Amino acid sequence: MKVRPRILMDCDPGIDDAFAILCALRFTDLAAITTVSGNVSIDNTTRNARYILELAGAEVPVHRGAAAPLEVPAMAADDIHGRSGLGDMSVPEAMISEHSLRAVDAILEYCESGDAIIVATGPLTNIAQALLKDPTLAERISHLYWMGGSTSEGNVTDRAEFNAWADPHAVDVTFRSMVPLTMYGLNLTHQVRMTTEHIEQLRAAGSSTSMIMADLLAYYSTHGTVSDIGQPVHDTCAVLGVTHPELFSIEKSNIVTHVADDDRRGMTEVQDHDTTSATTVRVAGTAHASSVVDLVVTAAIDPAGDDQP
Ligand code: BDR
Ligand code: CA
Repeated sequence: MKVRPRILMDCDPGIDDAFAILCALRFTDLAAITTVSGNVSIDNTTRNARYILELAGAEVPVHRGAAAPLEVPAMAADDIHGRSGLGDMSVPEAMISEHSLRAVDAILEYCESGDAIIVATGPLTNIAQALLKDPTLAERISHLYWMGGSTSEGNVTDRAEFNAWADPHAVDVTFRSMVPLTMYGLNLTHQVRMTTEHIEQLRAAGSSTSMIMADLLAYYSTHGTVSDIGQPVHDTCAVLGVTHPELFSIEKSNIVTHVADDDRRGMTEVQDHDTTSATTVRVAGTAHASSVVDLVVTAAIDPAGDDQP
């Protein structure tokens, strides 16, 4: 029997993070969630993570993380994800309570035995803080799958993606730690879009999760980078990169992260050759988009489903 990969997910839910959590529940062995400030405040991302888990009937520990980036002030993306982070819904308090262990210590504990897989779908603040707290940590992470950055266009500025722009110093610390990582940036995630057809599919399925996710997707579709070709569900790509690697093409690139607070802030720029300021990471380039979206729909309809033979 195929063993599900065990992962820790670091996230800032966020509508596409919510879809990513459901993918993690369906296709991985989700050991823990650590939350970070990003799309909305840490109070809201932590509450939203607990709510989505409860909605899915899952018991996974939730560890509260950083309330602000390493060096720059926190800036939300509530124009896209809504004031609560989950559209315009008033998110109910979940029964699942928050774990007393904070995110950085939860990450260190999770990685203790080595070969750890982490999926990060928000600013890299918690990951960077953990790497700074224990400089040997990178040796115990087998792979970090991160939704962030871009080798093409940006979505905060012309050239910077939100998670990289929100905490560029954390990207820099993480990349320089030499932790093996794959970047699922906008150059990839803009290929993976959900449309009104998927909203209808989710509604028609009528499950408790799919009805809520249909509402969230409808909100996201009118507030995101509105487009008649649908809205990119960025964060799901990093989770499915672990479980369905055959759906993504990957190549290695030398990347320089711009940390200065100027018009290049948060840019993850490809260098043609090695420079002292660049680090080599794996970059996801193309996705088999319809297959990725089918998996997202499946997870949103039945996150507890079992795909094992
Ligand atoms: C990323 O930014 C956030 O708004 C999304 O949740 C995603 O992680 C896309 O740029
Ligand atoms: Ca996110």
